[in-house]
Parts: sequence; structure tokens; C-alpha cells
Amino acid sequence: MTTNIFTRPLGDVIRQQPLVANYKKMWPFVKPYWFRAVLGLVLALPVGALDATVALFLKYYTDDVLVKKDAFFAAWIPVLIIAFVLVQSILTYIVKYLNTWVGNKITLGVRKKLFQKLLSMHSGYFDKVDSGFVMMRFNSDADTACNGLINNLRMIVTRVFSSVTLVGVLLYNSWQLTLIAVGAFSVAGGLIFIVRRKLEELVRDTVIVSSIAMRAYNEAFSGNRTIFAYNLQDDQITRFNQLMDSAFNLNMGMIKHTGWLSPVMHFIVSLGLALVFWQSSSMIVAGKITSGNFTSFVAALLMLYTPVKTMGDNYVEIKKAFLAIDRIFEVFSLKTEIADKPSASTLSGIHKEIRFENLSFAYTPGVWVLKDINLTVPVGHTVAFVGNSGGGKSTIVSLLPRFYDPQKGRVTVDGKDIRDFTLSSLRDQFAVVFQDNFLFSGTIRDNILIGRPGATEADLKEAVKNAHLDSFIASLKDGLDTVLGERGITLSGGQRQRVAIARAFIKNAPVIVLDEATSALDNKSEAVVQKALDNLTKNKTVFVIAHRLSTVENADTIVVLNQGEIVEQGTHQQLLDIEGGAYAALYNAQFKHKKA
Ligand SMILES: Nc1ncnc2c1ncn2[C@@H]1O[C@H](COP(=O)(O)OP(=O)(O)OP(=O)(O)O)[C@@H](O)[C@H]1O
Ligand SMILES: [Mg+2]
Repeated sequence: MTTNIFTRPLGDVIRQQPLVANYKKMWPFVKPYWFRAVLGLVLALPVGALDATVALFLKYYTDDVLVKKDAFFAAWIPVLIIAFVLVQSILTYIVKYLNTWVGNKITLGVRKKLFQKLLSMHSGYFDKVDSGFVMMRFNSDADTACNGLINNLRMIVTRVFSSVTLVGVLLYNSWQLTLIAVGAFSVAGGLIFIVRRKLEELVRDTVIVSSIAMRAYNEAFSGNRTIFAYNLQDDQITRFNQLMDSAFNLNMGMIKHTGWLSPVMHFIVSLGLALVFWQSSSMIVAGKITSGNFTSFVAALLMLYTPVKTMGDNYVEIKKAFLAIDRIFEVFSLKTEIADKPSASTLSGIHKEIRFENLSFAYTPGVWVLKDINLTVPVGHTVAFVGNSGGGKSTIVSLLPRFYDPQKGRVTVDGKDIRDFTLSSLRDQFAVVFQDNFLFSGTIRDNILIGRPGATEADLKEAVKNAHLDSFIASLKDGLDTVLGERGITLSGGQRQRVAIARAFIKNAPVIVLDEATSALDNKSEAVVQKALDNLTKNKTVFVIAHRLSTVENADTIVVLNQGEIVEQGTHQQLLDIEGGAYAALYNAQFKHKKA
């Protein structure tokens, strides 16, 4: 059976990332809040310790009140218990507040940094990762790592300290009995460490399965039409069911490896308790301990059970947090392939020409999409790329604003490699209308103003008019302030394209890149937008890609790009004159088609 995205085994996807201890690197994120973080942990100590005082009081209550009938202790012990528990409650609140504050601050800090990282990545990175992965890595992991860590640290500190002080009470009452009890507890606690390793693996796999599930939701959402059009529901459902089954297996695996833990621990501890009872009877008879010692001891022992047992859970959670930290630092250690050189200069304008020199490019190593391209585009010229689908037209123009860098050769502006300019100054030179344009959720106005945030209302009106959007916008109740996207209206393909054209108009950049900018328009609109584009491109350097050759007839140079190679180059007339030429063939095909 061949595998596809629906049937590929999960195991392949699952076991991918290495485990590295990165938590020391968390320090910069914790540093601004370290005082509160430490304070939260320090205050958690007495919260844990106060349990022990109640157990301790029981000794005096039994010996002095119950046995000796001492009225002083009888009056004060209840009052003291109330006082201690009150202090404990107030501290618990403060500690929880402090920890939540610190945990959230650190989480948000990490999340902000992760989002920055995401936007610093090169286009090639986005080609490779999927949205579910991004959501898990950049959002959920930050929460698990920071909030999870802080909360569980607090709990473990409380519990450890509670255990230590309770053991203190045990010792105070009888060291012999303590030995028996601690022995039983150690055996029980030791079991946690046995299942530790297995658990780590399972936790990691669970995270990956959830990230794949997230992607499934995302695809169901944005791909719903494609799913319906190709009747992919069953495939998608099968795939999702598989996923849920693996999630089930993972969870059951977790229970299989950990579920026995609790009952077995319980049994061992009960055994210890039985031993304690057995031993203490003889000790009381021999007068080695008082009945108060015994009551207090048993109370402390019972109180000890909960923290010792739940410490294991906190341990698992902390482990999860560390794994999330590892994954976060994997993201932080990503290197963008496209960034400013330290020596990069600012590109202030293009005066002479843009050149492609001996340029070759591959998305995947070895698969050349552009091969040895040489092309000079003087300032003010219009160059048109035509040719077969998949020939590399969109790719060649995507090298101009450095969405990708070529592996061989270079692109130069006035003789200087574009990699020597700052990215932002380079990208300022280009206004791009893509084959498929992305509109952000927000108003039409917001979407156009992205081109130049400071533009005046008059500029905006003009851009709208030039992009042939005015009558459409006039037909909307809220005009330019109509909300698009999730909460608002959906534009047609042609309308989206015109919003993108308006955006490019308002940017008023010296170089215009039009990748099939009018392909989604009907003939009438196209004629009008074409006129608008003629306005837009006046006195500009223009790269235009078009399937409809009528739109590129007037270009200064037409480049025929087939399978990554320039096969012909010249004016419309020059290319038509080539006997049996590629352009002539394309042209005739369209011309005949029109006549028919
Ligand atoms: N992001 C990408 N990752 C990997 N390969 C890609 C990517 N984008 C395009 N390709 C491949 O590069 C080749 C050239 O694609 P390109 O989009 O440049 O073609 P095109 O000439 O613009 O085609 P069309 O006329 O259909 O828009 C194609 O074989 C395509 O599969
Ligand atoms: Mg294309």
C-alpha cells in the first residue's frame, strides 16, 4: 500500500526530536521576576510546615488534656490550631497569587519571544512546518513550560517541606517507629522512579499526537471546500480516528505503566502502618512512649501520605514542563536562513538596473527550479515572464524581496548583491501583488493601508479608484470600514486581487511585481484594472507574470521561462518573428483559442 498524508504511520512522525536539557537557558525569562518567584517558593515552605504543628499539638492534647486533664492546654490548643490554620490559609492565598503572577509573566515573555522568532523565520521554514505544529510549539508549550513549572515547583516545595517537618514530628515522638514508617514510605516512593523513564516517552508522544490532531482541525477548517469537493471526508475521518486511537493507546499506556502505582503504594504504606501499630503497643506498655506520642505519630504519618503520594504527580508535571522547555529551546535555536548581514547597508533607491547573474535556485537540494539565469532589467523597464505552469515564474520574482536566497549566483541592484542590503530597506523597494493574496482580518481600509500606514485619506481614495474598487466599495453599507475575514464578509477572488492592487498602489514603491495580478478578474474588469495597472507602473520598474499574453505585449522585454531556464527573450515582435519559437507557439495557441 502506498502511503499518503492520510495513511502515513504516526510512528514516523512521532519519534523525531532529541531531548536536550535546556532549562538553564530559561534564566533570562525568569530573571526580571526572580525575587517574586523566590518569595513565592519561600512562603510555600511555612504553608507545608504548618501541617506538622497540628500533628504535634495532638501529643500535648492527648497527654496533658486527655490523660492529665490540664485545663490550661485544654483552653489553648484549639485556639492555637485555629491561629495556625488561619496563617496557613492566608499564606496559601498569597503564595498562589504570587506564583500565578510570576508564571504568567514568564509564559507571556516566552510566548512573545517565540512569536518574534516565528516571524523572523524565512519562507522556506513555513513551507516545511504545519500549523498544528506551530500552535503547539509556539503557544501551548510555553504554558506547559512556564506556568506548569512554576505551579508544580510551588506544590513540590510545599509538599517536600511538609513531609520533612512531618518526619520531624515522627522523630520527635519515636525514632524507632519512624524508622519503620520511613522505610515503608521510601519503598513506596522509590516505585515512582521506576516508572519515570517510560513515562517521559509517553508524555512526549502524547504531545506530538495532540499537535497532529490540532492540524486535523485546522485542515478541516481551512480546507473544508477541498475536502467536500473531493469527498475526502472518509479519508479525513479515518485519519482522525487513527489519531484518536493512538491517543487512546498512549493514555492507556500511561495508565498501564502508572495505574498500578497508586494501589501498590497504598498497600506498602498500610503495611508500614500495621507494623507501627504492632510495634507501638509493646513500646507503650514498656513506657518508652506516651499515648500522646502514639496519637501524634499516627496523625503525622497519615498526613504524610498525601504529600508523598502527590509529589509523584508533581514530579511528572515538572518533567513535562522540562520537556516543553526543551522543545521551546529547539525553536529558539532555529536559525533563519534569511537575515541582515552585520555589515548590511541601507538601500535608498534603485538608479540603474536589477540583474540576475548566473543564478540557480532549488527549494529542495538538488532539484533545480531555476537554472543559470542571466537577466538585466534597467530601471523603468517592464519585464514580463511567461511560460509553462511550474516553469519558475513565481519563484524568480520571489527572489527579489529575498523570500528565498539563490544557492548559486546572485541578484544585484546597481551592481551590489541584494544580500548586502538590510532586508527592510530592500523590501521597501518592492510592491508585490501575489498570485494568491492574503487579507488580514480587519477592515478593507486596514488591509489597503498596510501598503503605507501613514497614507492620507486622499491617497487612499485614489488607490481605491485606481484599483477599480470604488463602485464595489460604494455598494457596501460600511464602505471602506467593512470588516473582512472571520467576523465579516468574504470577498470574491477578483475583489481580493483588487484590494491587493490598491495596497500596492498606496505603497508607491519603485519596483512593482505583479504575479498574475489580474488573473481572477473578468474581461471587463481586467480591462479597467489593466488601465489602472498602467497608471501604477508608469515610470516604475516592473516585473509582470501573466498567462494572458495580451497583457504583456507592451513589455520592454518578454522572457520565456520553461522548466527553470530562459528559453527566449526579446520584445513581443522579436519573439513572434522566431520561426517555431516557444513564445510564438504560446501566442498562437491563445490567439486561436480566442478566435474559436
Ligand atoms: N515553496 C515551494 N517549495 C518547494 N517547491 C516549490 C515551492 N514553490 C514552488 N515550488 C516548485 O517550484 C517550481 C516552480 O514553481 P513556480 O511557482 O515558480 O512556477 P510558476 O512558473 O509560477 O507556475 P504558475 O504559472 O503555475 O504559477 C514548481 O515545480 C513548484 O512545484
Ligand atoms: Mg506562479
